[in-house]
Amino acid sequence: MHQRIILDCDPGHDDAIAMLLAHGNPGIELLAVTTVAGNQTLDKVTRNALAVARVAGMTGVPFASGSARPLVRTLRTAADIHGETGLDGPALPDPALTLDHRHAADLIIDTVMNHDASTVTLVPTGPLTNIALAVRKEPRIADRVREVVLMGGGYHAGNQTAAAEFNIIVDPEAAHIVFNEQWPLTMVGLDLTHQALATEDVSARIAAVGTGPARFVSELLGFYSGAHRHARNPRDSQSTGFPPVHDPCAVARVIDPAVMTTRPAPLDVELSGTLTLGMTVADFRSPPSADCTTSVAVDLDTERFWALVVDAVERLGGGGL
Ligand code: BDR
Ligand code: CA
Repeated sequence: MHQRIILDCDPGHDDAIAMLLAHGNPGIELLAVTTVAGNQTLDKVTRNALAVARVAGMTGVPFASGSARPLVRTLRTAADIHGETGLDGPALPDPALTLDHRHAADLIIDTVMNHDASTVTLVPTGPLTNIALAVRKEPRIADRVREVVLMGGGYHAGNQTAAAEFNIIVDPEAAHIVFNEQWPLTMVGLDLTHQALATEDVSARIAAVGTGPARFVSELLGFYSGAHRHARNPRDSQSTGFPPVHDPCAVARVIDPAVMTTRPAPLDVELSGTLTLGMTVADFRSPPSADCTTSVAVDLDTERFWALVVDAVERLGGGGL
């Protein structure tokens, strides 16, 4: 059976790879792609998403742009890692798709409400602004989605601050809304994504595919790796010099749950801490109660993960270039 997903993203190098994985994997039915300001401004990440769609040869998938700023706070971007365009490195082709006229939150609502209950998984890989708006505007989606599998947070350390991960601290109020809904939610956080490093071996395997989309991914990884080295980024100080490719991990979890282990735990988001704003707090003190709907990703089967990514790139063939 196909897993139906909506990918809500802010491309972003790793978001772009998440898109390619979702489109290239035969087990995923990509119902919609929505964009949110995060790694760069909304206009830039939306333009990037459409360019990636062209690289992948996506047709018939609605794309909608959403929130240009967080619910409460001023937008902070990640130009240090993703560049001025948000997707520095490869030349970006002109978009072939046009944007859906709806706001991302409305496209999410319509898509979830128009499909059978428990058949649509939300996969956010950026700040959670659109998802929070959608569930506040149409609370019934909380009962209808199959699950939320998000890249964000972590239960040990942050990357934007000592305590907070980027996607969460950009819009902590939105994250608070999303983490406190009663829907099944898996947090694919930094504890997990720091195991998905783009090593030399990974880059070589992707380059060996030899297609246009493979070259695109190679160029993405080239810039992304350099930015990580250059920034000596305390955001990713746990890594070994190779950059963590965060966002496709969430897509991989939907494709193949066995690609990672998870652990149930109550989760919440800190909104008032002086040092801990945006921290995702997992309560591991005791076995979770039966009504706990949240879990955290723990261990990645690294080989299985990269095999999925390489396979998806191979399946894209020449894409739409
Ligand atoms: C997250 O922040 C962004 O820069 C990446 O795209 C990823 O979603 C990692 O902290
Ligand atoms: Ca992202």
